[in-house]
Amino acid sequence: MIKESNLVKNIKPFVTAKKISKSYGNNNNVVVLNNASIDLFRGEFLSISGPSGCGKTTLLMILGCLMNPDNGEVKIDNFDPYKIKPSDRAKVRSEFIGFIFQDFKLIPYLNVMENIRCSALPLGQISVNDKLEKLLSILKLDHRRLHVPSQLSAGEKQRTAIARAMITSPRFILADEPTGNLDEENTEIVLKSLRDYSNNNGSVLMVSHDPNIECFTDRHLKMSAGGFEEK
Ligand SMILES: Nc1ncnc2c1ncn2[C@@H]1O[C@H](COP(=O)(O)OP(=O)(O)O)[C@@H](O)[C@H]1O
Ligand SMILES: [Mg+2]
Repeated sequence: MIKESNLVKNIKPFVTAKKISKSYGNNNNVVVLNNASIDLFRGEFLSISGPSGCGKTTLLMILGCLMNPDNGEVKIDNFDPYKIKPSDRAKVRSEFIGFIFQDFKLIPYLNVMENIRCSALPLGQISVNDKLEKLLSILKLDHRRLHVPSQLSAGEKQRTAIARAMITSPRFILADEPTGNLDEENTEIVLKSLRDYSNNNGSVLMVSHDPNIECFTDRHLKMSAGGFEEK
């Protein structure tokens, strides 16, 4: 359920997808999303669970302005990111969205600090030094700041990917199975950092194959092949 304290700011969703469809394959024969609709509100921590292969990553890619839907409409703060030039869409991604990829997508020859900083590069001359130090401390990466990804544990890679998503203070974060391969201690750090982000009025959408994630979030939806299950 949405927390009562959030109800006022939740009157209008910040991100919406209406009747989204997406298929893969040469003949579009792998139907992944079929008329799926979803709203994400300001300051909300929303989770979605569903079995592997049901389309969670596909949905995040579409909401994250990384892949056009075949049909349906996406709106971010009331504009459609797929109706603008690709270069403008890239700006929207940089300024509005933090994406935490399932397989981290860290750059192998950059150290932790450089990987985190690189998502702020498209934003130009903004100074991120203070924020970087804060994130290194909160996400317990201080002692690994000069290490490259091959020298990091799975938890450290995941925490680096989260810091990279947060350094630009995006309006919303899309987190793809961010606790997938983590031990209890790392899972707690990751969930707490996402919770703190939503408490500070950022929106977070986290997907996982693990239905237990619903305990940690304001609202939970279940996906199965093609879209969302009826509540
Ligand atoms: N580029 C692609 N080409 C063909 N099939 C794909 C592609 N990407 C994903 N799929 C298929 O689409 C389905 C949904 O994938 P995905 O969105 O990654 O699911 P989930 O994240 O829930 O595991 C899976 O069956 C997967 O094999
Ligand atoms: Mg996935």
